Amino acid sequence: MSTDYDLVVVGAGWFGLAAAKVYLELHPIENILVLESSGTCGGTWAENRIYPGLKSNNLHGTYEYPDFPMDPEVYRVRPGEHIPGDVLHRRSRFHTRVDSVEPAPNDTWKLQISSPDSNEPITTGKLILATGLTSTPNFPQFPGVEKFQGPYFHAKDFARYSETVKTADNVVVIGGAKSAYDVAYTYADSGVQVDLIIRPDGHGPVWISNPYVDFGLRLEKLLLVRFLTCFSPCPFGDTAGLGAFRNWLHGTRIGRWLVDKFWVTLGNGVIAANGYASHPEIKKLQPWNSPFWTGTNLSIYNYPHNFNDLVKQGKTRVHIANVDHLTEHEVHLSTGDILKADVVVCATGWDKKPPSYFDYPGANIGLPQSTEEQTCLIAAADNEILTRFPRLRDQPQLGSAVAPDTSGDPHRLYRFIVPPNFVQTRNLAFAGALSAICTAIVANSQALWISAFFDGKLDRLASTDEEITREVLLHTQWGKWRYPCGYGAIAPDMPFDALPYVDLLHKDLGLRVKRKANWFWELFEWYGPEDFGGLVDEWVGKHPVKEA
Ligand SMILES: Cc1cc2nc3c(=O)[nH]c(=O)nc-3n(C[C@H](O)[C@H](O)[C@H](O)COP(=O)(O)OP(=O)(O)OC[C@H]3O[C@@H](n4cnc5c(N)ncnc54)[C@H](O)[C@@H]3O)c2cc1C
Ligand SMILES: NC(=O)c1ccc[n+]([C@@H]2O[C@H](COP(=O)([O-])OP(=O)(O)OC[C@H]3O[C@@H](n4cnc5c(N)ncnc54)[C@H](OP(=O)(O)O)[C@@H]3O)[C@@H](O)[C@H]2O)c1
Ligand SMILES: *[C@@H]1O[C@H](CO)[C@@H](O)[C@H](O)[C@H]1NC(C)=O
Ligand SMILES: *[C@@H]1O[C@H](CO)[C@@H](O)[C@H](O)[C@H]1NC(C)=O
Repeated sequence: MSTDYDLVVVGAGWFGLAAAKVYLELHPIENILVLESSGTCGGTWAENRIYPGLKSNNLHGTYEYPDFPMDPEVYRVRPGEHIPGDVLHRRSRFHTRVDSVEPAPNDTWKLQISSPDSNEPITTGKLILATGLTSTPNFPQFPGVEKFQGPYFHAKDFARYSETVKTADNVVVIGGAKSAYDVAYTYADSGVQVDLIIRPDGHGPVWISNPYVDFGLRLEKLLLVRFLTCFSPCPFGDTAGLGAFRNWLHGTRIGRWLVDKFWVTLGNGVIAANGYASHPEIKKLQPWNSPFWTGTNLSIYNYPHNFNDLVKQGKTRVHIANVDHLTEHEVHLSTGDILKADVVVCATGWDKKPPSYFDYPGANIGLPQSTEEQTCLIAAADNEILTRFPRLRDQPQLGSAVAPDTSGDPHRLYRFIVPPNFVQTRNLAFAGALSAICTAIVANSQALWISAFFDGKLDRLASTDEEITREVLLHTQWGKWRYPCGYGAIAPDMPFDALPYVDLLHKDLGLRVKRKANWFWELFEWYGPEDFGGLVDEWVGKHPVKEA
């Protein structure tokens, strides 16, 4: 039966492609299929989502798979294409959306799909869901939207509406994070009058920095310098042997004073470089909360011209206001201002809820314990986190639109990958259910971890429900306390915490955690994709296949 597979990967973005590639390498004769709802691979970076001017936040050299360094000679190549295209392409079905997942006999899965060719369900032994955090738009429909009479779309569809950059005179952009910046910049730089609306009761404008900070250091690389990662309180930070230093930093008064200094210095550097104090309009874009509380959406100016100059010149006007309602070609704000608009773009982010594919009777991709037990265990995890990291007690005051966090239960996954109830069955994994700035490194390590996990070949794996729940709660509750201005409890958010996270995975895999030549480089040299090249071979070397 052609609908039977050993492994199905859902989603062909960075994470799905890496997972499929590594699994295939280790299981060359198995029957593997990648399902992708859109017409091409790349996910966020798929052809049809490349809007005018889109660039990565990362500079060249940090947004590439460890085993596929991006050759500057072939610079036009996009990430998805770096996997040997023919290998995966033959195994991919595009325009095929997975609608639901249900269990089938012998611990297999049955997937209900929609596709133009055939809606015949697919069964598979193992399943990897890699559907991304930026696939489903959060697209508010403001009162009066039906009267607006012009293009009204989400930033995800900016590529499809890109001709409006040439045709519109006035555009309203809603949102205060990187997509809003990108869209506002693109219009304003082409001579369109832009009004940027940031809601007053939310997180406020995003932290955005030049790629290079003080002393010519590259910001995204600092996030992967082991010594600096210690300044972020993290319950899985001690794999590489810096536990004592971390405990001192976060557990003592003087340590915490240093940690505070570190973050204040970082924030002040960015504030000064942006010159927020120099102009009242730019001042409106100064972030409201310390960068300490901000996760991975810390952004980078990657525009040909200066964004703030467009604001100073009035080409982008900033409003801290709510949208009250829309009328024909007008946006009415809560402040009473009425803005002319040919186009409204909602750069309002994404629906970050875990995918709800599992709604069969008895489905439980959460914790095995009863709700009452969970309440107790969550309180215990919170207590442990706040005792180890007292700094996290002192939470920022957030506006009513975003606080208290009403997003519900976080995605409770072991190692941010496996639902607790499936640790024993080893037939289900989530790849990329997190946000990291070193996406490619994390995607590669998760891919190898998942493959080894499916084969029962991890050197270290929690075995009892108790042990699994304890770790899962400690790790997932941490997100809530650590990044209230980022993904918070919704998903692990790992700017400074991604290196400790891959350490954790590598330790499970029995791979080298400290990968630098000596202790000095280990502490002070940044980790890049090049440090994780050949990981699969290294693992195979340590886990040779026994002859049957
Ligand atoms: C505009 C933009 C720019 C970004 N820039 C950066 C950057 O510079 N640096 C950085 O580190 N991060 C950046 N990010 C974050 C980025 O999302 C991640 O780096 C990375 O691309 C995520 O990869 P992924 O594989 O998890 O998800 P995705 O790339 O989103 O891939 C998921 C795939 O799953 C498919 N899919 C979803 N649901 C289904 C379903 N039910 N059935 C079948 N297929 C499905 C989707 O169509 C998609 O192709 C950016 C995000 C956006 C939106
Ligand atoms: N490489 C690049 O250049 C690039 C480009 C785009 C995105 N990205 C990355 O992609 C990720 C997502 O970024 P994003 O900007 O798309 O989404 P995001 O970070 O989730 O930001 C969404 C914005 O919309 C606002 N918002 C949400 N609902 C709203 C509503 N109903 N009314 C008014 N405002 C509302 C939010 O405000 P609140 O704070 O109040 O919730 C927030 O400012 C980030 O990691 C980012 O760095 C990168
Ligand atoms: C389940 O596995 C058993 C033992 O391997 C096999 O005999 C049986 O046919 C399988 N059932 C199905 C529905 O595949
Ligand atoms: C990113 O930061 C902005 C600005 O503080 C905030 O509005 C937004 O909600 C954040 N998004 C995520 C996904 O963390």
